[in-house]
Amino acid sequence: MPDLPAPLPPGSTIGVLGGGQLGRMLAMAAARLGLRTHIYCPEDNCTAAQVADAVTIAAYDDKAALKAFAAQVDVVTYEFENVPTDTASMLAQDVPVRPGARALSVAQDRLTEKNFMQGLGVATAPFADVTDVGSLTTALADIGTPAILKTRRLGYDGKGQMRIDDTTQASTAWEAVNKQPSILEGFVDFEAEISVIVARGLDGTTAAYDPARNDHENHILSLSTVPSGYPETVEAKARTLAEKIAAELDYVGVMGVELFVASGTRKLIVNEIAPRVHNSGHWTLEGCTVSQFEQHMRAVAGWPLGSPQRHSDATMTNLIGSDADDWQQLATEPNAGLHLYGKGEARPGRKMGHITRISPKTSA
Ligand SMILES: Nc1ncnc2c1ncn2[C@@H]1O[C@H](COP(=O)(O)OP(=O)(O)O)[C@@H](O)[C@H]1O
Ligand SMILES: [Mg+2]
Repeated sequence: MPDLPAPLPPGSTIGVLGGGQLGRMLAMAAARLGLRTHIYCPEDNCTAAQVADAVTIAAYDDKAALKAFAAQVDVVTYEFENVPTDTASMLAQDVPVRPGARALSVAQDRLTEKNFMQGLGVATAPFADVTDVGSLTTALADIGTPAILKTRRLGYDGKGQMRIDDTTQASTAWEAVNKQPSILEGFVDFEAEISVIVARGLDGTTAAYDPARNDHENHILSLSTVPSGYPETVEAKARTLAEKIAAELDYVGVMGVELFVASGTRKLIVNEIAPRVHNSGHWTLEGCTVSQFEQHMRAVAGWPLGSPQRHSDATMTNLIGSDADDWQQLATEPNAGLHLYGKGEARPGRKMGHITRISPKTSA
């Protein structure tokens, strides 16, 4: 085994592509370890910049800005999975980029992602490549309804998706996804959605947190609950799957793996992966000694991973849009960690903050 690069000492600077709340919480975790952060994002006034040591506001294809950024940081990571792979490759010429371009390219394209899972022998929803109405009609005949048409790229929080209940809806659905290259997925009959936040270090060691059970409202994560309520046998399988995916991608950092638990059989089906810290892992800030954010910064800095051990039960509730207007009330709750992201306007659907409520641990 080749020698590993030395861990970056305290005082080193981690460059973060993306300036949202995930970047903000990464920067705060890095500060606790004496590491600096430099945020790179295209928008002014990004929330992560409020708590970072330095910020570059430039487009992801601004070569001169990327070059200057690379010269000022010791390693680059990202908090946003739609960073163009060219940006990551360009930076990688000058500075380590963790996780690497492979994880980014697999996670950015739902077809590549599904093929990757299939190659690993990991169960997914049945799927087919859709390039036009003809291939969509064929896919609907093969897979049946209900089914979900999803654009291959750039979907999030249910955007770029269309449920199809009847084969006659093929052309309407194709219009609805703006005729973008897509996949058709068979509808999974699930009893719950769970997720595993897994970290993998530079030396290949992995650390998976306890799975969270996730409830969505309007396609946006609303509530994560830990423990998930599933027996250890199911949870262990979920953690092992996530560790296998991370190892196969030669991943460095924290990754979120979203899974369906099939109704009745409790078979685990991977929905998608996020090559970054994940909303369903925010509970780790209050529920564990080392949060997903610190864990990610440890991994990308080449440090030893912390223990993913959970010391409390936790529920994490997202504060979406006007939910955060109740901050005064929420701030009075005992055993609750309130997080507000420093964003301006509370537009409907916008993630403004979250609150994690903890209670003594009830299961091992
Ligand atoms: N094949 C499927 N079967 C049943 N429900 C699905 C399927 N795919 C997605 N969903 C539902 O839609 C949500 C969003 O889909 P997902 O693929 O995770 O996209 P996003 O990138 O928007 O999170 C999932 O969390 C799940 O509730
Ligand atoms: Mg999802």
